[in-house]
Amino acid sequence: MELQHSVGPGPEHGQFHLAEQRDVLCERYEQEKLSGVVKRVHRKLRRKYIEVGDFDKIWREHCEDEQTLNEYAFAMKSLADNHWSKKRDGEGRIEWCRSVCQEYFMDGGMKMMFEKDMKAVKHAAAASGTSLNPDSSSPSLSLRNDKLRLLDVGSCFNPFLKFDEFLTVGIDIVPAVESVYKCDFLNLQLQQPLQLATDALNAFLGQLHDPIETLPAQLFHVVVFSLLLSYFPSPYQRWLCCKKAHELLILHGLLLIITPDSSHQGRHAPMMRSWRMAIESLGFKRYKYVKFSHMHMLAFRKVSITTSSDLVSHNYPEMLYIPQDFSTLDEEDTFGDLCQPARSDSEDEQLARSFTELPDACYDSDSGESQSGSAPFHELEDPILLYS
Ligand SMILES: C[S@@+](CC[C@H](N)C(=O)[O-])C[C@H]1O[C@@H](n2cnc3c(N)ncnc32)[C@H](O)[C@@H]1O
Repeated sequence: MELQHSVGPGPEHGQFHLAEQRDVLCERYEQEKLSGVVKRVHRKLRRKYIEVGDFDKIWREHCEDEQTLNEYAFAMKSLADNHWSKKRDGEGRIEWCRSVCQEYFMDGGMKMMFEKDMKAVKHAAAASGTSLNPDSSSPSLSLRNDKLRLLDVGSCFNPFLKFDEFLTVGIDIVPAVESVYKCDFLNLQLQQPLQLATDALNAFLGQLHDPIETLPAQLFHVVVFSLLLSYFPSPYQRWLCCKKAHELLILHGLLLIITPDSSHQGRHAPMMRSWRMAIESLGFKRYKYVKFSHMHMLAFRKVSITTSSDLVSHNYPEMLYIPQDFSTLDEEDTFGDLCQPARSDSEDEQLARSFTELPDACYDSDSGESQSGSAPFHELEDPILLYS
């Protein structure tokens, strides 16, 4: 007997909808379960930090808790493989990193920024009657045919490996895939820079051994912290990571930071200003800032070999705060899952004002112009990021 295909609404059509709805619900349930694993790990670390205070001790214990770490790695990878890849949720961040690198290294962004810097230096020199800094030589712009050496810290499932333009080194305390090296970035030792040609540097990266415990300074064009910094319970750990990234980058290299935040763009503008000041003090200049619906996307270029963060005039590490740092244990227990803002807008403002007086939220230090948060990228929903 020949099967009759249903055309238009009818019982079969209704059944199809029911089945579809059931699939959607199952998928959502599974996704919530996985993001719950991720959230619990973050919350547990934070709770311990509030209770014990000694982040070195807590971190050591955390890294020894293999069961929790493996569950976390499995959950993150499942989210990436089974949920984000199907719906393209959460993928926007990787695409964003890729296109910023393309624009900066391949399409003239770096040259343009460098020329702007030079103009400003000349202006300042003319105004003060001093001579130009002899170090102000043009960066090497011959990257068109070379791969960009990219270090993805907290890589988990190595999302950059599939792109040909990168020579990717993914590191994680618990790799979820074989291509990622085991490495605790907080305890990574840095060595003197290698004085080698590009081919030799690339070959060096091809021969890394697992686990990675040391790396030479000034080796990478790009360092990525995608959803890494909010993993840490202490602002000091975030600071340490940014400082290491500065040392690992070549001059004019890019640090790309993606950090979760589901609130509207202006909600945490003081926090972003505070981050910017702290990170720029390390020898960076902000290159781009975009707010997606669930994350802040930041790109900083390394503009100086030295850092200017004297730690006397400002407590720079503390400036890398996130809203969760100010939640009490009770609030975490009660509201942690509900994405409640930890502080009011006025409290945010007050805290930021006590740090510094900086230009307006979206002011671009490079161009001196306002940057709009609306980027030429689609705002993609990222359900796991609701853990912020
Ligand atoms: C939220 S996941 C982000 C994974 C991936 N980057 C992404 O964007 O989907 C954070 C990752 O950072 C890793 N991580 C946390 N602390 C780390 C450290 N000190 N060194 C290396 N990786 C770390 C965790 O194991 C976890 O895989």
